[in-house]
Amino acid sequence: MAGQKKLLCALAGEKQDVPPIWMMRQAGRYLPEYRATRAEAGDFLSLCYNSDLAAEVTLQPIRRYGFDAAILFADILLIPQALGADLWFVTGEGPRLSTITTEADFAKLGPASDIHETLNPIYETVRILSRELPSETTLIGFAGAPWTVATYMIAGRGTPDQGPAHALREENTALFEALLARITEATIDYLSKQIEAGAEVVKIFDSWAGSLKGEAFQKYALEPCRQITAALKERHPGIPVIGFPREAGEKYVGFAKATGVDCVALDNSVDPEWAAANVQVDGCVQGNLASRHMVTGGQDLVDDTRRIVEAFKKGPHIFNLGHGITPDADPDNVQLMIDTVRGG
Ligand code: CP3
Repeated sequence: MAGQKKLLCALAGEKQDVPPIWMMRQAGRYLPEYRATRAEAGDFLSLCYNSDLAAEVTLQPIRRYGFDAAILFADILLIPQALGADLWFVTGEGPRLSTITTEADFAKLGPASDIHETLNPIYETVRILSRELPSETTLIGFAGAPWTVATYMIAGRGTPDQGPAHALREENTALFEALLARITEATIDYLSKQIEAGAEVVKIFDSWAGSLKGEAFQKYALEPCRQITAALKERHPGIPVIGFPREAGEKYVGFAKATGVDCVALDNSVDPEWAAANVQVDGCVQGNLASRHMVTGGQDLVDDTRRIVEAFKKGPHIFNLGHGITPDADPDNVQLMIDTVRGG
């Protein structure tokens, strides 16, 4: 596949001597240029909805490091907002939303078909990026998985154990499932519009998939991901999908086959050698360096990076972190990781 983008080759199943590389949250607070643009925008949400500035922060890590992929700058919580939930961010604490715990709360949400008026600036960001990115860089669009998005909509904030969402799932299954169905429908339309605007790959972030056990994982993590992937493949054949059922553990095995995703992103709680033998056998995998190395650096970073490259080198692999880079990371450690992947 000479002349093709490295990331798309990996997603098509090609094994490469040097894997393509990008990083979750690569546009973020560890970069001084991100902090400056965010200050110019005023706050995080204003940055998400300002197409020119959102495109600018997406491009910053590409200019600085030459990653093989750029991920659209936005947030998984824009869908709840587009459905009519209130959303704001408390500095130093994280997101806050109006809560959905009763039928009356749910009835206040709009239909999935109404989300685009709010989300049009995001599609415009994608259009700008597809014009401005270097020709070798792949543009990734994304959305949150229905379960993860629902955990925030139900609790109104991030929670350590997703307790309120599990409680609603058990106490009012019909309402919980209606909420998941609404988010699923909105997500399919949202990702379709990103693809129409120029996204070449989409990624589904299920950050809290690991808290769903047994049959609940099948019903509320695997099944919505399968539905979204099937609908996208029907509307946009040939657009690869990356699934990220974070902390799925043993349930990473067979996830790609069961959902139809082209690649499974792995968090760093799984052993790379185990994942090569049990998950990569079904196709491309992405991951999975611990993000703490971006804070601590040194020989440990180099050793773990080499171990991951080595473990996955017999099949298609996209190098990435196991979760997002944190604000206290040192930009020089990112360069060290890239040099290690590309230079051995
Ligand atoms: O990866 C990227 O660079 C693309 C942009 C992106 C952001 N959030 C920007 C962001 C993506 C893909 C996300 C996904 C996201 N958002 C997830 C799933 C992945 C994960 O991290 O588990 C979740 C759960 C969210 C919800 C969210 N957004 C939280 C809980 C927070 C607050 C926590 C924090 O890090 O402050 C955010 C804010 C957020 N989203 C920031 C960024 C760069 C930091 C905001 C800032 O600049 O102050």
